[in-house]
Amino acid sequence: MPLSVKDLLAEGVARTDDALERLLPGTDVLPHSIHRAMRHSVFAGGKRLRPLLAMQTAEMIAGTLPPAAPGLGAAIEMLHTYSLIHDDLPALDNDDLRRGKPTCHVVFGEATAILAGDALQTLAYQTLAQLHAPAEAAIQIVREIAIATGTGVGRPISSGTGDPLAPIDAGALAPGMIGGQVVDIESEHQRPTPELVEAIHRAKTGALITVSIVTGGILAGATAVEVAHLRAFGERAGLAFQIVDDILDVTQSSEALGKTAGKDTATEKATWPAVFGLEASREQAAALIRDAFTELDTFGPRAGNLKAIANYLTERTH
Ligand code: IPE
Ligand code: IPE
Ligand code: MG
Ligand code: MG
Ligand code: MG
Repeated sequence: MPLSVKDLLAEGVARTDDALERLLPGTDVLPHSIHRAMRHSVFAGGKRLRPLLAMQTAEMIAGTLPPAAPGLGAAIEMLHTYSLIHDDLPALDNDDLRRGKPTCHVVFGEATAILAGDALQTLAYQTLAQLHAPAEAAIQIVREIAIATGTGVGRPISSGTGDPLAPIDAGALAPGMIGGQVVDIESEHQRPTPELVEAIHRAKTGALITVSIVTGGILAGATAVEVAHLRAFGERAGLAFQIVDDILDVTQSSEALGKTAGKDTATEKATWPAVFGLEASREQAAALIRDAFTELDTFGPRAGNLKAIANYLTERTH
């Protein structure tokens, strides 16, 4: 019997938390303050969707969960949590509530919060370098993740020549998390265009979701053609995910979200509803997921769990 989405989510949380528990230094390790801060944010109660996507993709490709998959998922969750700690800083979104708890800088101060984000980022790469995976796959995973979380500079090996010195297209915002965060901040209080908001969303959020799926596939030995399908699936699902994040900011309470609701309107962020309205945003997110599913046809019934999780990305209420 296939697991329900609820059970899949719970299994994803359990596997991710178990790996994170083993990988993060304890609060008794010096310097205590930063390890407390890292654990405060990591274990505040995230949905663990990116590790779940990585693990489910790896399981779909390999037929069983590769032993290194929870470590990959944990590394991605460290990067995600670092991005949230920094996103909440006064200099960025200035939020005091995250995952139902006071934000890292509210509890530990700005200096420690900045450094906790930095330390989660370095621990993520340390973890990736220690993965029990063939060296070639491990290097490809590190490179894919670095590109997806940076300013997007570089060509993913599986979608191009793999030449790290290939010329960069200077005229387009590349899909990288930090680049997306920069444009998100710089676009506050301006009238966003559809092109701008799509570029921001693909970069600040879509890239990390896409790379979770892509690297889960690479870890499990996916072929270049399979990786291309996974990437196309991830790009659509990742964009839909941020559209829904924008919708929830308008439609849900802070209590339901575990983070401050209504924040995007207050700061005049470049959001999907601000450009397209709520109803069209809902329809477009659903259409993106339907479109994403066609990329999974090649995997047949084995893609059932991934499809269920992708549906949850748009149907979730927090
Ligand atoms: C929130 O991500 C930040 C975005 C990129 C929109 P999630 O909704 O996955 O947050 P957690 O990890 O469950 O707290
Ligand atoms: C966050 O986007 C994206 C990253 C952290 C990279 P948001 O600013 O919309 O996320 P929330 O709504 O604060 O979770
Ligand atoms: Mg933000
Ligand atoms: Mg924010
Ligand atoms: Mg948001």
